[in-house]
Amino acid sequence: MPESLTVFRKAWFGALALFALAGSTGALYRAGMLFGLPFGLQFGNVRHAHSHLMYFGWATVALIALIVARLPAFTQRSPRRHWRWLIGATLAFALLAYFPFLFFGYETVELNGSRLPPGVIGASLNILMWYVFAWLYFTETRGVARNAALRFWDWAIIFLILSSFGAWGRALLVALHVTDPFMTAATVDLFLDLFSDGWFVLAVLGLALVEFPQADDAQLRRGQRFILIGLPVTFLLGVQVELVPSALRLVAGVGGILVGGGLLFVIRALWRVMPRASVWKIPLVFLALKALAELGLSVPPLAVWGESAGLRILYLHILLLGFVSLGLVAAAEFTWGAASARGRVWLTFAVIALIVTLIPLTALLPTALNGRWALEMAALAALGPPVVALGMLLRR
Ligand code: HEM
Repeated sequence: MPESLTVFRKAWFGALALFALAGSTGALYRAGMLFGLPFGLQFGNVRHAHSHLMYFGWATVALIALIVARLPAFTQRSPRRHWRWLIGATLAFALLAYFPFLFFGYETVELNGSRLPPGVIGASLNILMWYVFAWLYFTETRGVARNAALRFWDWAIIFLILSSFGAWGRALLVALHVTDPFMTAATVDLFLDLFSDGWFVLAVLGLALVEFPQADDAQLRRGQRFILIGLPVTFLLGVQVELVPSALRLVAGVGGILVGGGLLFVIRALWRVMPRASVWKIPLVFLALKALAELGLSVPPLAVWGESAGLRILYLHILLLGFVSLGLVAAAEFTWGAASARGRVWLTFAVIALIVTLIPLTALLPTALNGRWALEMAALAALGPPVVALGMLLRR
């Protein structure tokens, strides 16, 4: 492997270390539900520290490293030195935002006589890095003929930028003292949903298409079109049904049907060309579950039922852990060889176990079956992915 590319493999391990830290923070949250949190930590702040580090440090850094490592094959140019700085800074800023979120969440603290929100500042630095990333990517790939992987990455990065407007919008509402519940929820979901469903899902699918370019047929293109038309409005599906004006909810529902259906087309196109034992199959099964859930979410009565059954955390982890994280590991193995993903099978089992133990925490099972045991099982299973990730780091 050329020296210029091994640096991105190092970044991959850096991202995996942040996955272990963010996962341990999630496990701390679960243990806290049984025994209380140490050092006066608050549940909301621990949750923010966990989710932000997973988004900014784990998945975003791993995606950037994997995309950049693949670019030379498409552009016929070796990657520019800027990339190393960008990936290093993105890793550092993700970690920098983690500690303020853990201790203060979005709160302001007194610093040199003025009150500042360190978590928000850390998050803003991360957003600036995404703009640099987008700029470097589009200048590096300018004039290069678009294959399926590049098409998916182009759109993934456009949605990454669009999602950041939700984060700025939320900050603007705070500055303008706007407290309207619909506007507040809509800006948060604009950020969270376009980031996960736009940036993560499309970029990971692009990585799968690097491995299976022959999946680029009429069905895949139809699926891609459906997803792109639906995505800009599906963030409204994340907002509580009763807060969304009914006409908008209808538009969001149509968007959800397009995205859910489009994803199923893309999955089918990939599945057909994959070898029977491909490591991508399990991530794709999780993506299919997400697509079906999205179709359900598009129908308001089903969405209301999902809200009352407390399915949000299960849904998020099916997507983010089951598809995105396992997909990233599959792509790392293909890009840098088996030594980059030693322990992948263990991680897959740990992820499945974690997701299964989230089911009793919802109202999907009869209430008689809920109890302290469900919290204990979830706390135990939460340790699995971070422990396996640490093992992967030690065995590299
Ligand atoms: C590695 C194993 C993981 C563990 C142990 C874990 C654990 C948790 C826990 C305990 C919560 C809070 C649940 C609650 O509010 O009841 C949570 C929420 C969340 N997690 Fe994870 N998680 C993991 C992986 C991931 C990954 C890979 C991502 C993203 C790439 C992620 C993103 C989120 C998000 C977005 C939330 C919701 C945050 C919010 O509502 O503010 N998690 N997770």
